[in-house]
Amino acid sequence: MRVLIHDTNENAGIWTARYIVSRILEHQAQSDRPFVLGLPTGSTPISTYRELVRLNKEGKVSFQNVITFNMDEYYHLPEEHPESYHSFMKHNLFDHIDIKPENINILNGNAEDPEKECREYEERILAAGGIDLFLGGVGENGHLAFNEPFTSFEARTHVVALTDDTISVNSRFFDNDINLVPKKALTVGIATVLSAKEVIILALGSKKAAAVKQAVEGGISQLWPVTSLQTHKNGILVCDEASVSELKVSSYRFFKEAMNK
Ligand code: GLP
Repeated sequence: MRVLIHDTNENAGIWTARYIVSRILEHQAQSDRPFVLGLPTGSTPISTYRELVRLNKEGKVSFQNVITFNMDEYYHLPEEHPESYHSFMKHNLFDHIDIKPENINILNGNAEDPEKECREYEERILAAGGIDLFLGGVGENGHLAFNEPFTSFEARTHVVALTDDTISVNSRFFDNDINLVPKKALTVGIATVLSAKEVIILALGSKKAAAVKQAVEGGISQLWPVTSLQTHKNGILVCDEASVSELKVSSYRFFKEAMNK
């Protein structure tokens, strides 16, 4: 696993967006050979999305032959609710780039049969040829997508009950009222993320310091889902100075030196 330590959130986002663009260009994406990109929501990827939008507007990259799969969606939250992940993606990325609407995949949290929706999501990923690059964020408790602590690393797309921790952290988007936060979600599984050819996890800001410490120095454990990234042969953890504040000085120096080589 590579660990990149950027000075600020903004620079971490710029690096990540440019890396994604370089992968799309190298892939020489065509309609019969699309690039398949996994995407997260949350405050963390906003700087990356801003740079992707800029690069698209400047003509440096096209998303015409990119297929996206989002990580997760709340259960039984109307799609048009401002805090649904459908709304988030439209406002922060999809409305501003040249992606084809039919190439956007987001779990339907209002599906009549959510289990079936999850099974079909996996089938859609397979039909697209698998995910080339999965970009993710991490929760304060180390969750990946909505895979809460103690989720099996073998899990595929499934319905989850959110932990009280996550409900409380996410209540900031729902007028700080935990009663307004959906109690369940549909999420890709850890195995869905790790099946991608490449995985980039963004961990930015001091609130992620405990998760980063575990991700880098902790043992691989279901207690901290993000530690599963250590098992991926093309895993990159993108941090900023604030999120690495709990790392040992020796770990910090190791990864800073590695960035200059
Ligand atoms: C949510 C999402 C995760 C995301 C996490 C972190 O719970 N389901 O996919 O990684 O929040 O959010 P933020 O980036 O706002 O800290």
